[in-house]
Amino acid sequence: MARVRADTADEPTIVADPDRMHRDVLAARGRGRRVGFVPTMGALHAGHVSLVERAATECDDVAVSIFVNPTQFGPGEDFTRYPRSLEADVAAVAGRGATWIFAPHADAIYPPGCATRIVVDGPARRFEGELRPGHFSGVATVVCRLFLAVPADVAYFGAKDWQQTLVVKRMVRDLGLPVEIAVCPTIREPDGLAMSSRNAYLSGDDRTRATALHESLVLAERAWRAGEPVTAIEQTMRKHLASRGVAVDYAAIVDRESLEPPSKPPADAVALVAGRLGSTRLIDNLLLPRRG
Ligand code: PAF
Repeated sequence: MARVRADTADEPTIVADPDRMHRDVLAARGRGRRVGFVPTMGALHAGHVSLVERAATECDDVAVSIFVNPTQFGPGEDFTRYPRSLEADVAAVAGRGATWIFAPHADAIYPPGCATRIVVDGPARRFEGELRPGHFSGVATVVCRLFLAVPADVAYFGAKDWQQTLVVKRMVRDLGLPVEIAVCPTIREPDGLAMSSRNAYLSGDDRTRATALHESLVLAERAWRAGEPVTAIEQTMRKHLASRGVAVDYAAIVDRESLEPPSKPPADAVALVAGRLGSTRLIDNLLLPRRG
């Protein structure tokens, strides 16, 4: 649905205070404007920009949050080195439809003494949930807090973090949060590598080998279409990743909603992959066509 924007200002307004953000969004909605929300951790790339552009097509106003959320990083993960680039981020979304950039300080999101966490089970249990204990609790907690500060009509998430989209949708459903969740396609580099803020960590050789994640997904799709059994496809993916020097965390074909082994005959499945190149950990996925 194309929307006509009354406000054509290119520069988004930067807001740090959650109460002010809340007031501005409610005021816009009170004027009958549909508000979209794109939650991010900054270091914005073309994938994020595509979310903002989609939101701007479907909404009158768009809020983009930039907050590197400490609670979703485990000990020894990359919280301290995660790229922070507010000025470049503002430039990346200027003129793309962002009305506000919400960039709160950590203690506005987690007030001193904050003792509340949201824990999602179900889709959060396997894969990233197993390998990164506490990660999805950190994601769910911050997303809920951000939804309270930015009471938008619809929030936009990238399909690259497929499991995260399931966790957020489950939380929204279980808590009855009044926001629609839109999942948007993964944006890729010309050689297939999924856009990610963490790609900036990749050195020349690792960057070249990082295409193995997408290649393994393409191999999986071909084998899936040919009717090969799931275990054989998973083995093919693992072999390909290992042959390109990727340390495999998982390579799996599962039901795209439950993340459990696909039912027989398989309905809607997804191929998920995660692996490490040096100190950089990458994930990717591909929705598979229905077969059975
Ligand atoms: O996908 C991300 O960038 C983050 O996990 C999110 C949803 C902004 C929560 O911090």
